[in-house]
Amino acid sequence: MRGYGVATAAFQVEGGADLDGRGPSTWDEFCTRPGAIKDGSDARVACGSYTRFDEDLALLTELGVDAYRFSIAWPRVQPTGSGAVNAAGLDYYDRVVDALLAKGIRPFPTLYHWDLPLPLEQAGGWPVRDTALRFAEYAQVVVSRLGDRIQTWATLNEPWCTAMLGYAAGVFAPGRREPARAYDAVHHLLLGHALVAEALPDSDVGIVLNLTTVRTEPDGDPRAADVVDAWQNRVWLDALVDGRYPEVLGEPSALADGDLPRIQGSAAWLGINYYTPFRIGPPKDVRDAVGQDVDAFPGAPPFAFAPRPPLTTMGWEIDPQGLVDTLQATASRAPGVPLRVTENGGAFEDDEDRIAYFAGHLAALEASGVEVVDYFAWSLMDNFEWAQGYTQRFGLAAVEPGTLRRVPRGSFRWYQDYLAQRR
Ligand code: FCB
Repeated sequence: MRGYGVATAAFQVEGGADLDGRGPSTWDEFCTRPGAIKDGSDARVACGSYTRFDEDLALLTELGVDAYRFSIAWPRVQPTGSGAVNAAGLDYYDRVVDALLAKGIRPFPTLYHWDLPLPLEQAGGWPVRDTALRFAEYAQVVVSRLGDRIQTWATLNEPWCTAMLGYAAGVFAPGRREPARAYDAVHHLLLGHALVAEALPDSDVGIVLNLTTVRTEPDGDPRAADVVDAWQNRVWLDALVDGRYPEVLGEPSALADGDLPRIQGSAAWLGINYYTPFRIGPPKDVRDAVGQDVDAFPGAPPFAFAPRPPLTTMGWEIDPQGLVDTLQATASRAPGVPLRVTENGGAFEDDEDRIAYFAGHLAALEASGVEVVDYFAWSLMDNFEWAQGYTQRFGLAAVEPGTLRRVPRGSFRWYQDYLAQRR
């Protein structure tokens, strides 16, 4: 293992929505829609990391992490998604990188964690090819500024969420329920990733996927499980490893000659965000687990997700073996490609449960002998949990409403000890 860290994402922690020339993103717009966010909140303030990075840095230093996974906000760097670069936005990330390095913490940036500049969505969003080209251009801008200090780049975070929750189920920004366009979004996300990798032959460019193990209950329909597995896992791995799309899904209408050979082999490493397995039950068994939305799997025969308790407050089943199974399946699917656990964690009201979650998953990972390069806990602190607003507590530290003071929890102390023992 190269390192242990924690992860956050720009939109979820930065706030400072209008500061220093940042442009609006799809998520800013999504938050204004009545009913879109569970508690009616938005991320205009969030944890205020844009103006309080020194406080985050103090936490990271105290925690003793080797690396910090954060994301760069495209709308800060290019407020309209193309053309003019906002120097102040780039300066912020420049300072973040230098500050981390000065403390001996490896900066591990993700170029895109869901905050698409709004004008690009208005021009069609990920279902149109131009968005992939603009993404490659934006990446070039960031890398020209930070590439002297950063070698390893994550292009996209969980493109499944962008494509399927954003364009098929419509429960994430941009909130479009157009399942027929979602496959084109998948394709352009992969293409965007591949264009960045192609442009940076000397860097270590990978992609972060939320792959998971799909388990079928005895009364669940294996054909539904197959389609779920295809959208969740195979569509990404088949394209990245073999340069093809899963037969059960057919091909995206946007697929052009020469695209798949570019995508094939474009991930120098794979990041896996693992929280829960997916468990397929019969259609009658409807429960409400966040992100486990049957509309996100177009073409699946009727089914429902049937997570088995104990559940986190997200409604997600807790299953450390699922992490191991997912890593093992990915390792055999993508032989020789280094794997990282880029996110892992659970939302709980009781911090003892959070400690048990991390302890259980880290123990399973260690005992499994599966090789991973890095492990990142989600998250450094409570933050804006997308469509759940501020109702979910994933943080090793709490963030006091109003003052935004970071307050380390017992789980923070637990991870701190875990890291100290490893040194
Ligand atoms: C993942 C996201 C991350 C966070 C966790 C709980 O899907 O990548 O931003 O919200 O879920």
